[in-house]
Amino acid sequence: MLIFSDISSIKPHLNKLKKKGNIIGFVPTMGALHNGHLSLIKKSISENNFTVVSIFVNPTQFDNAKDLLTYPSNIKNDISLLKSISNKIVLFNPDSEEIYSDGIKSQQFNFNGLDEHMEGKYRQNHFQGVATIVSKLLSIVEPDNVYFGEKDFQQLRIIENLVFEKKINTKVVRCETLRDFDGLALSSRNSKLSFSSKKMATNLFKALNFAKEKFNSLDVVEIEKKVIEQMTAYSEIKLDYFIIADEEKLEPSILKNNLKYRAFIAGYISGVRLIDNIKLY
Ligand code: PAJ
Repeated sequence: MLIFSDISSIKPHLNKLKKKGNIIGFVPTMGALHNGHLSLIKKSISENNFTVVSIFVNPTQFDNAKDLLTYPSNIKNDISLLKSISNKIVLFNPDSEEIYSDGIKSQQFNFNGLDEHMEGKYRQNHFQGVATIVSKLLSIVEPDNVYFGEKDFQQLRIIENLVFEKKINTKVVRCETLRDFDGLALSSRNSKLSFSSKKMATNLFKALNFAKEKFNSLDVVEIEKKVIEQMTAYSEIKLDYFIIADEEKLEPSILKNNLKYRAFIAGYISGVRLIDNIKLY
């Protein structure tokens, strides 16, 4: 597997591959790879000739310095995982200076309201940072297809919007959320949870399932009230939000119009912030 850390070396390599007619897929990640990441990478491998995986813990999307410092990282393990999957992977593992040679700051984007609620509301400037890094990476890799997980559904919608608005010539591919046997969505942050906190964290998924079960029979307000009641009963959980919103605009709704809805949840389990969502149709 070829590993690049400089823009000036990966670009000519990818250009050579493209000139030979190869289709390029791209999976941006922040590393500490788990099976959720690997499902995106495997999908990309099956749909493209070569897959670029980036591993870069992007400082501009963290609103909290401690969260950035303690973000899990295990590059050795990541490299051996990637090597074991396929020889059609190109790893891009730059450092901050390479990416932010002009200073560690976000560019400013207009997300047409997609960042108004949920993560956009609770994590200041998070999506400005995500869009900054993703647009930088897309301009380096210029992939035919780029893969994002529905686990971070608001991020996915924001990137779809960015690619559309900026007329970036790439197809955004949505990938389903991978879960543990007990429903807990796989996340790099799960490695920070103790065994019992992991068990506690499955209550987020249970709350989402409750919403799905009751979506046709109860009012949205009633569902939200019950979920918030359930969550506040657990002292280990500090809920940030539980929201039912439409998939397109991500506007919280108490109505059930003819739209596709999802339930979104975020909260701290023993101090570790987790997010999850499921579709309600
Ligand atoms: P990271 O959290 O490492 O996630 C990388 C990709 O893997 C994202 O598209 C995310 O949605 C997807 N993913 C994570 N857990 C998943 C799961 N359980 N099932 C399916 N897909 C999953 O998201 C980021 O990094 C960053 O914000 C990034 C886009 C790389 C920009 O820095």
